[in-house]
Amino acid sequence: MKYVEVAGVKVSAIGLGTWQFGSVEWGYGPEYSESTARILVRRALELGVNLIDTAEFYGFGKSESVVGNAIEGLRDQVFVATKLFPILPLRSVVVSRAKASARRLQIDEIDLYQLHWPNPLVPITETVKGLKDLTAQGLVRQIGVSNYSLSQWRAAEEALGASIVSNQVHFSLLTRGPEKELLPYAQANDRLIIAYSPLEQGVLSGKYNAKNRPGKMRALRKYFLPTNLNRLRPLLEELKRVADSHQASVAQISLAWLISKPNVVAIPGAATVAQLESNVAAADIELSRSELESIDGFADSFEPFAVGDLFTDLKSIAKRRG
Ligand SMILES: NC(=O)c1ccc[n+]([C@@H]2O[C@H](COP(=O)([O-])OP(=O)(O)OC[C@H]3O[C@@H](n4cnc5c(N)ncnc54)[C@H](OP(=O)(O)O)[C@@H]3O)[C@@H](O)[C@H]2O)c1
Repeated sequence: MKYVEVAGVKVSAIGLGTWQFGSVEWGYGPEYSESTARILVRRALELGVNLIDTAEFYGFGKSESVVGNAIEGLRDQVFVATKLFPILPLRSVVVSRAKASARRLQIDEIDLYQLHWPNPLVPITETVKGLKDLTAQGLVRQIGVSNYSLSQWRAAEEALGASIVSNQVHFSLLTRGPEKELLPYAQANDRLIIAYSPLEQGVLSGKYNAKNRPGKMRALRKYFLPTNLNRLRPLLEELKRVADSHQASVAQISLAWLISKPNVVAIPGAATVAQLESNVAAADIELSRSELESIDGFADSFEPFAVGDLFTDLKSIAKRRG
C-alpha cells in the first residue's frame, strides 16, 4: 500500500468510503449493512488501508455504528475520519454532535473531524469555537473540511488560527474542478485532498452503459444518463486500453490516475469484497507520463449532455421501463 504523509498525518492512498453502509439511497439492502460492511472494513485494514471515511449523515448514524463495531480491537490500525452535518453548527452543537459520533464509533478520539459542507447562515467563526473545544478536550485530533472552495477553506483556517489539514471534495476523471485551485494549494501548503466519488459512483469502472444502468439514487445522476454513458465511450475505451497493458481494470486505472497526483488520496466505496480488493490494488499501479497525458486528453474531450439531450434521455428511460 502506498501512503501519503502531510503535516504529521499518514493515510493510505486508497481509503474506504462508507456512505453505502446503512444508506437506503444505495439500495444494497440489510445483508450488506449487517454483514458485508463489517467484512469490508476488516479486509481493508488487513490490506493496509488505514483511512476509513464515514459521516453522521450516512444512514443517519448507522454507518458510524457499523464502522465502530467493525474496528473493535483494531483501533491502532485505523485513521477514522467522520463528518459533522452542518445543520446549525453552533459551538455547543458541534461539541455534542462530535461526542455522539465518537460514541457510535466507540472511540475516544476522532482522528479527522470534517465539516461536511459549508453552512451559509452560521458564521465559520462560531463553528470553529466548537472545533477548538473538541481539540482542547482531546476528542478530535485533526480538523478537516469538505466541499469547501479555496476561499472558504482559507477563511476557516483564519478563523481557527491554524491549518486545516484536508478538504474532502468530489474529484475524479470527470470532475476535475479541484485541479484548478484546491490541489495547488494543498501541494504548496502540506495539505491533503481527499477525493470522494473517485469512480463517479461506478461510471468510471466501465461496467455501465445505456442499456445497463443502476437504479435508486444513481438512476437520474448526470453521468448515468444514457446520452452521457454513450458519450463516455471513447474515454472508457482508452482506460480499457491502458488497463489491459497493466493487467488491470478500468476502475483501477481511474483510481491510479487520481492518486498519481501528489497530496491526493481517494476513498472509493465498495459493494463487494472483490471491488474493495481491486480498488486497494490500484495503489500499486504506476502510470507513465504518456499514459497520464493520453487519459487527460480523452477526459478533456468528453462533453457531457446539453440540456436538450435530457429530454431524449428521459424518453428513452421511460420507454425501456415500458
Ligand atoms: N463529502 C461528501 O460530500 C461526500 C459525498 C459523496 C461521497 N463521499 C464519500 O466518498 C465515498 C466514495 O464515494 P461514492 O461512494 O459516492 O462513489 P464511488 O466511490 O465513486 O463509487 C462507489 C461505487 O462504485 C462501484 N464500485 C466500487 N468499486 C468498484 C470496482 N472496483 N469495480 C466496479 N465497480 C466498483 C460500487 O457500486 P456498484 O457496484 O453498485 O456499481 C460502489 O458502491 C463515499 O462512500 C463517502 O465516504 C463524501
